[in-house]
Amino acid sequence: MSHFYVTTPIYYVNDAPHVGHAYTTVIADVLARWHRLLGDHTWFLTGTDEHGLKVMRSAKANGLTPLEQADSTSIRFRDAWDQLGISNDDFIRTTEPRHGEAVQKLLQRAYDNGYIYKAAYEGLYSVSDEAYVTQADVDEGRVSGPVEHMSEENWFFKLSEFEQPLLDYYAAHPEAITPTSRLNEAVGLIKQGLSDISITRTSIDWGVPVPWDPDHVFYVWYDALINYATAVGYASDPERFEEWWPSTLHVIGKDILRFHCVYWPAMLLAAGIEDLPRFAVHGWLLIGGEKMSKSKLNSIAPADLVEDFGIDGFRFGILRDAPLGPDSDFSYEGMVTRYNTDLANNLGNLLSRVSTVVGKKCDGVAPAPDPDSPLAPIAAEAVQATVDAWEALAPSVALEATFRLVREANAHLEKNEPWKADPGPDVDRVLGDALEVLRLVALLAGPVIPATADQIWTRIGLDGSPTDCRVPDDAAWGGYPGGATIEKAKPLFPRLVT
Ligand code: ME8
Ligand code: MG
Repeated sequence: MSHFYVTTPIYYVNDAPHVGHAYTTVIADVLARWHRLLGDHTWFLTGTDEHGLKVMRSAKANGLTPLEQADSTSIRFRDAWDQLGISNDDFIRTTEPRHGEAVQKLLQRAYDNGYIYKAAYEGLYSVSDEAYVTQADVDEGRVSGPVEHMSEENWFFKLSEFEQPLLDYYAAHPEAITPTSRLNEAVGLIKQGLSDISITRTSIDWGVPVPWDPDHVFYVWYDALINYATAVGYASDPERFEEWWPSTLHVIGKDILRFHCVYWPAMLLAAGIEDLPRFAVHGWLLIGGEKMSKSKLNSIAPADLVEDFGIDGFRFGILRDAPLGPDSDFSYEGMVTRYNTDLANNLGNLLSRVSTVVGKKCDGVAPAPDPDSPLAPIAAEAVQATVDAWEALAPSVALEATFRLVREANAHLEKNEPWKADPGPDVDRVLGDALEVLRLVALLAGPVIPATADQIWTRIGLDGSPTDCRVPDDAAWGGYPGGATIEKAKPLFPRLVT
């Protein structure tokens, strides 16, 4: 059986969960749900990043200890993900003992392998980026907050030795980073040349102690990245780690590409781990439109939008128009339009029309689809396009392909007008076809709109849930058995007015 291990970044606990975090987490969630449908052995990890100066200082500003700050914000992330129907299998906190053990083990290996040495560090540090920066970074606007001068004895990682190995690796594995534009960006960064980097600090103690020199703690990024290995048993269960690690996919935003696509693979190689993860790198979600233009994205809680759009409406709206890769404009008005067009009109209408007409023309008993329906080849094409798009890590393209099928089914109904015809085999065929499309759409769009998919399933009289099915086997035309009693019920998605 194939394995699929998918992760989100672990979010800093100085900040409350916002729509940007939700975007990444929903992408990882729909990928996990899709792979479960494929029948893959799937593990989905998210969590919180709790060490480092940024968290320490924000705790201080709030009159809390760093752990109190971490405890209270970490719970807010868990709650936010519960409210969005996120199906993570594990939630990691970097303050957990299981994580400290993995950090120490992995970096001890790198040390034993000769990739870590001590030297004096003198230079600039940006707390808001938790990164060492240069004067050029400051002058050219690549730093997000004030910088401070730092001077201390540090342990350094020989990143410079991995320049060629990483270039060779990405040349041989171009599929490791999606989309290609982000692969090119990572390769460009490596080609600019890699300098050794400081990976420990003595001036703070809010971190994981360096095992061979306990006056030092690891710099927060070297602690944080290792969470991905911790969670699948790197320190505690080597067999489990071997089982999952080769199938790792990290979903991240473009802001942390350098840490993930350059530093992390180098650290893994330094520790003797030859299997490197894949990365899906998305762009920035930017606020557009009237209604939210005065607020910053990071002041919008996902719960505020769920109130208006519902869980599935939010999940759909945030993915539907945002191709993975470039930045995308995200607006309240755009979400309303998508919700009304795709969910209320296309999908919602299809279900309510079919239920009404089955009630009137078939005594409420569902007919079966026509094996030779003109919709059959269209459905086969939509299934294939949806499968391909998920494989290519393109949720917006997958949704487009699935919803094309909904539009075709509505067009088929309008062309045949079963509501005007006398009851009989012609009417039965057309309605059976529409019911089959509803079954297929519940299956294919289920990862994005899981509660809706379950509802459609029940309303068209199927047992269990679409999550019990497998793609592609159960997505072949003609799987809908007919014979169930269909009742008219309230609309799936009440129309929204702006
Ligand atoms: O960087 N659009 O955590 P963080 C899209 N702790 N995505 C956005 C976004 C936006 N406007 N704003 C935030 C950290 N994100 C580290 C990660 S991992 C080992 C350590 C998302 O809380 C996006 O995924 O600053 C981005 O990469 C992440 O939040 C940064 O979260
Ligand atoms: Mg950040």
